[in-house]
Amino acid sequence: MTVHLDARAERERTAREFRPGQPLPNFSYSGDEDALWSDVFATLRGMHERRSCTQYRLAAQRVGLPAGRVPQLSEVSFQLRNLTGFELAPVMGSLPGRLFYPPLAHGILRSTPALRPVSEQLFSPDPDVIHELVGHAVMLADPEFAQMYRWFGRATKRAESDEAMAAIARVFWYTMEVGAVIDDGRPRACGAAILSSVSEMESFVDAELRPFRIEDVVATDIDDSVCQPAIFAPIRSPR
Ligand SMILES: [Fe+2]
Repeated sequence: MTVHLDARAERERTAREFRPGQPLPNFSYSGDEDALWSDVFATLRGMHERRSCTQYRLAAQRVGLPAGRVPQLSEVSFQLRNLTGFELAPVMGSLPGRLFYPPLAHGILRSTPALRPVSEQLFSPDPDVIHELVGHAVMLADPEFAQMYRWFGRATKRAESDEAMAAIARVFWYTMEVGAVIDDGRPRACGAAILSSVSEMESFVDAELRPFRIEDVVATDIDDSVCQPAIFAPIRSPR
C-alpha cells in the first residue's frame, strides 16, 4: 500500500491541532486506504452477523457506516450526537487513561483518525479509525452502552489513587474492549477491540470463557499485543 507520508503527517498535524469546542476537521485518505477500509469492513460485517451481540447489530444499522471509503470522524460524530448524545473528538494515537476516560463522562470519545498499515490489516495492537468507528462508535449508538461508557468516565473522575484507576481500566478493558454478552446462550462480542479485528473475531469463538466476577477482572493483567486468550462472560446484558 502506498500512502503518501505527507498525507499521514497532515492527518497527524490536524488531529494534534484540534481543540475541544472546535468543529471537527476532515481527514484525507488515499484510494489504497479506502480499499483497506472496504476489505476489512466487508470481512468484519460478515463475522458480526454471527458473532456480535444484538445491540451491536442494531446499532450498526442505525449508524450505517459507509462500506467503500474511510468515514470521517465528523460524520459519525454527527450521527452519534443525534442517537445518544455522544461525540467524537480527534486525537492522534492512544491516550493515557487519565486523559482518555474522563471525557467519556461528558459524552466525548477521543478517537484517532490514523489508519492501520496493510501489514496489520487483520489485527492492529494500536487503536486506529477502524477500531474507533467499527468498534467503539457503533456501540456508542446503543443508548445503554453509551450510558455505560459515561459511567466509566464518571468513575475515573472520582478515582483517588493509581490503583483505583488501574482497576477501572481493567474493567473497561474486559467489557468495552474485549467483552462479551450472552445472546441465545452463546457469547457474542460487545467489545470494540474484538469487533474491529478480523483475527480477534476469529479467535473469539475459541477463547477461554471465564465467569465475569469483578474481583477476577481487576486481578487480571491486560495484554493488548495479542488476540485475547480468555474473555469474561456473561456480563449482564443491559437489555
Ligand atoms: Fe479502544
